[in-house]
Amino acid sequence: MFWPIYKSKIVLSKEQRDIYIHFVLASYPSLKDYKSQNFKIPPHTFGDFLYENFEKEVASFCTPTYRQNNVKDCWAYVTSFGKPISYWHHHLRSSTINGVYYLKVNEKDKGIQFRYKDNILHIQPAVNDLLIFPSWLEHYPFPSEDENIRISINMEMLCEQSANELFAIK
Ligand SMILES: [Fe+2]
Repeated sequence: MFWPIYKSKIVLSKEQRDIYIHFVLASYPSLKDYKSQNFKIPPHTFGDFLYENFEKEVASFCTPTYRQNNVKDCWAYVTSFGKPISYWHHHLRSSTINGVYYLKVNEKDKGIQFRYKDNILHIQPAVNDLLIFPSWLEHYPFPSEDENIRISINMEMLCEQSANELFAIK
């Protein structure tokens, strides 16, 4: 079974990661409610560094031409125990290639599932992991079962080519 998922890493030191985590938490408007939320990382902060690494990894397996309206935004998805708002979804409408970087993962987190042609793939991401996949690939991030918050950073790339072309899917 061929899965169009590239697994890589953006290696950050613990100190650097702690600074990023602190940045997200300090910017997160209603952290004390422990609601799952998406938080757009402002430009010219560490999001630029993560997006550049995302681009670099994508360039290692294909040569995308960006659409004019591609925005190099990063979104921090903050979630914790008791906030199961996960569901099967794809990003077909807003993106061609998706990347998710795991900034903070906890012991009891159950990872993410992908669904493709009636097959399911489970991935248990670790800190610093970067997953890259076509926007049409359905996925389901398990709700967190850990009392500590989990933070993933989601990135999208809008390209002129189709995802199938870029991922060499026949
Ligand atoms: Fe997603």
